[in-house]
Amino acid sequence: MKNLPFSNGDTMPALGLGTWKSNDDEVYHAVRAAIETGYRHIDCAAIYLNEAEIGRAFADAFKAGDVKREELWVTSKLWNSSHRHRDVRPALEKTLKDLRLDYLDLYLVHWPVVLKPGVVFPASPDDFLSLDEVPVSETWKGMEACLRDGLCRHTGVANFSIAKLKKLLAVAEYPPENNQIELHPYLPQNEMLAFCQKENIVLTAYSPLGSRDRPAPFKAADEPDLFTHPVIAGIAEKHGCTPAQVLLQWAIARGTAVIPKSVNPQRIRQNFEAAALRLGAEDMAAIAGIDQSYRFISGTFWTGGDTPYTLKSLWEE
Ligand code: A2P
Repeated sequence: MKNLPFSNGDTMPALGLGTWKSNDDEVYHAVRAAIETGYRHIDCAAIYLNEAEIGRAFADAFKAGDVKREELWVTSKLWNSSHRHRDVRPALEKTLKDLRLDYLDLYLVHWPVVLKPGVVFPASPDDFLSLDEVPVSETWKGMEACLRDGLCRHTGVANFSIAKLKKLLAVAEYPPENNQIELHPYLPQNEMLAFCQKENIVLTAYSPLGSRDRPAPFKAADEPDLFTHPVIAGIAEKHGCTPAQVLLQWAIARGTAVIPKSVNPQRIRQNFEAAALRLGAEDMAAIAGIDQSYRFISGTFWTGGDTPYTLKSLWEE
């Protein structure tokens, strides 16, 4: 397994298990199966509302001797309703309690979007606060305090544009070390990749398989399919592997981490085995040609009406 280095010498396994959309009754077995398969990187978030079950899986895996805490890389994310400086630490403490851990390897600011305290998902524009009211710099001070106090080993962000990363880098005492964003051949984000390589920010690719199990309100009517694109399907056939494996190895070969979600033991194994696939330069070049600048996670749930956010202010593209 390729490992991605952080500046203090810690390394994050390039392939991890995603847990968004994994239900409480599935995620325990998914995490146990992933650890048994050899995964050493599990990606979590408070808003996935399944951290307590993941914590149970970790505790049982440690007890069974499947893995030691220090061999696992665990990421989680601060939800949008806890962006005030004073709310960051309690949010992280709740995640640690649920995950039954005493530190995280990586803690991320989940979105550059602020919701009022206590709001899980916004029902109206009144549920939002703007980034002028609670700037990222305030949230980041809370993240830095958690880092200093050892509640997490590394801090980063998710869904941040280059402009927002630059703004944060300008004020951060401890710079963000990771940006977790949507990345796949329909949205390769080449400029972001180059920027992050220059700034020593590890990129993590979410929705690498197109996130087809998203709830209907998060889906567009005629989404493009990654698995059946002739270039992806053709490369899979040539290498005798699955389209999913091509997509995952493409991400790893570009130097990013990748966190496919699965609750199916066969697919959990299949995805893990993608780390051993080798794509040729001609494969990578062919895949580079299928960019459609297409976001599966469009961000429209934060915008529209009188919310303080627009798609332009969110992605800054
Ligand atoms: P399942 O959990 O039943 O395996 P993403 O990581 O982009 O969010 O995609 C997750 C979706 O892709 C889920 O529906 C998941 O279903 C499915 N999936 C995960 N691995 C594979 C695979 N190797 N082949 C096909 N579908 C997969």
